[in-house]
Amino acid sequence: LSNQRSSLMNIMSGQCVFGQKKHLFFLPLSEKKKKNGPKSLRDLRAERQAQAERSVLVSCHPKTHENKFLKYLSRHGNVNKCFFYESFGTYAVVEFSNQDGVQSLLESAAMPSVSHESVVPLRSRLLSLRNVNTVDTDKQSAPSRRTCPLTVFLLTQLEQQIVSLTEAHSLTDENTRLRFLVCSLLNDIAAAYFPQSSIKPFGSSVNGFGKLGCDLDMILDLDGTSEGNANMPRSGMYMEYLVKRTSSERAVTQSVLSVIAGCLDQFGPGCVGVQKILNARCPLVRFAHQPSGFQCDLTASNRVAMRSTELLYLFGELDARVRPLVFTVRCWARAHGVTSPIPGAWITNFSLTIMVLFFLQRRNPPILPTLDRLKELAEPSEKCVLDGNDCTFTSDFHRISLETNTETLDQLLGDFFEFYSTFIFNRMSINLGRYGKEHKPELHPLYIQNPFETSLNISKNVNSSQLERFVTLCQESAWLLQSGSHLNTLLLPSHISVVRGRKKRKSQPASERIKGLLESLRIKNNSNNTEAGVT
Ligand code: GTP
Ligand code: MG
Repeated sequence: LSNQRSSLMNIMSGQCVFGQKKHLFFLPLSEKKKKNGPKSLRDLRAERQAQAERSVLVSCHPKTHENKFLKYLSRHGNVNKCFFYESFGTYAVVEFSNQDGVQSLLESAAMPSVSHESVVPLRSRLLSLRNVNTVDTDKQSAPSRRTCPLTVFLLTQLEQQIVSLTEAHSLTDENTRLRFLVCSLLNDIAAAYFPQSSIKPFGSSVNGFGKLGCDLDMILDLDGTSEGNANMPRSGMYMEYLVKRTSSERAVTQSVLSVIAGCLDQFGPGCVGVQKILNARCPLVRFAHQPSGFQCDLTASNRVAMRSTELLYLFGELDARVRPLVFTVRCWARAHGVTSPIPGAWITNFSLTIMVLFFLQRRNPPILPTLDRLKELAEPSEKCVLDGNDCTFTSDFHRISLETNTETLDQLLGDFFEFYSTFIFNRMSINLGRYGKEHKPELHPLYIQNPFETSLNISKNVNSSQLERFVTLCQESAWLLQSGSHLNTLLLPSHISVVRGRKKRKSQPASERIKGLLESLRIKNNSNNTEAGVT
């Protein structure tokens, strides 16, 4: 337990502690993965979900004595895993080896007795550890949090820097467990209305491209409908549920989400700032889950987004260079304001990820196969049509053979910037489906085809000045990499002299801009050296 405690990370700020992760991998597929194949997202999700269902989340005193806590828990059952984190207080995630442990702990828990307030008597797996008479703490066991120093970005080779960046910011095992646990806790509330419901995470929490601090996207699956209706016989009598009917699936989604939102708002422990955004293309409920610190988006009947998550996960597992590259590009984009947490005319992380995957499909030889190829490789049992869209592709890693491409991550990062510096955005679209240049079917500045709803452009919100800014940043980043710059140079906005006004930019010749860049780098380096006492 103390090892687990010393590997504490600050989930909220994305800071992490050393000594946890193994060093990365540049082989296209590790030997183990080649032999067994990576786990499918479906299996991985089932495993995580089962862990979450036999777990509880406990608010604790910051100096809780770990061994005494563990001893107390073991009276209720075998503890598989226990770790602490901080988010508006100290919390422990406790996973029992089976449900009995959880039940026993819940049965022993008391309702708080308060004199001047009233409580909503909802018994959930979100608990608070109390101690009668004594404040039982242990000064020695306070977690030692060592945050990643910035110098990690000043290491030797660019490739190593990319790996360090990815390692420092990607979701940890603990953070992923907590995400599944939050889904499971919220599902306990939804299940009061819909006993068969299940809340599942999707998006970057599970697609492998998640960064510490990213939002938690969830889908409320009311009766396992996304898995298909298995009870329908071919002939003869059968039972059907007598159900209420409404005008459209959208109307059902809206009314269900509205009820769940009200429930979370009024009774949901730890759920604050609940907003119903029911008129969006994809209706959702947005709220903050305070004990975990996650910003949550809950949707329903968003099955295509689940499938996109599976596709992105598959691409991320196919080659070990995919994730670090996507990660670096996403960090670079965030550092320069190409992406933003506020909705607007910016490129989104989802679009940016598709742009990286598209680029990797166009290497020679390709690093990733096209979606059409993955569709051809699918078994009949993998056929999948959702809301009228063909979402078929194989998830079987053994069926996908990849060509040998030995390009290094630094080559790929430089070429990514080069590729989009010269991409003919006004005529071409970005499409994961097939090889061959695709002409744009409409006039939006950036056209990225939705992988499954193929008549939709996922980047139609992007305006021409945002696209132009992206292209300019790509040009300058490509140039910086060619001139041997470190990753930190690329990630610091002050090092890239993107002139925001278009007129000013056009009136300055490229040679002048490059001279300006060199000059600013020289000045920066000199000041860094002086600050560090290097003469
Ligand atoms: P971050 O939250 O920024 O880390 O990335 P994310 O991939 O989770 O993106 P986001 O939270 O914006 O969206 C969650 C998921 O919804 C994505 O992974 C996609 O599967 C899906 N999604 C997001 N934007 C779009 C879009 O414009 N069109 C479609 N069809 N799906 C989208
Ligand atoms: Mg997200």
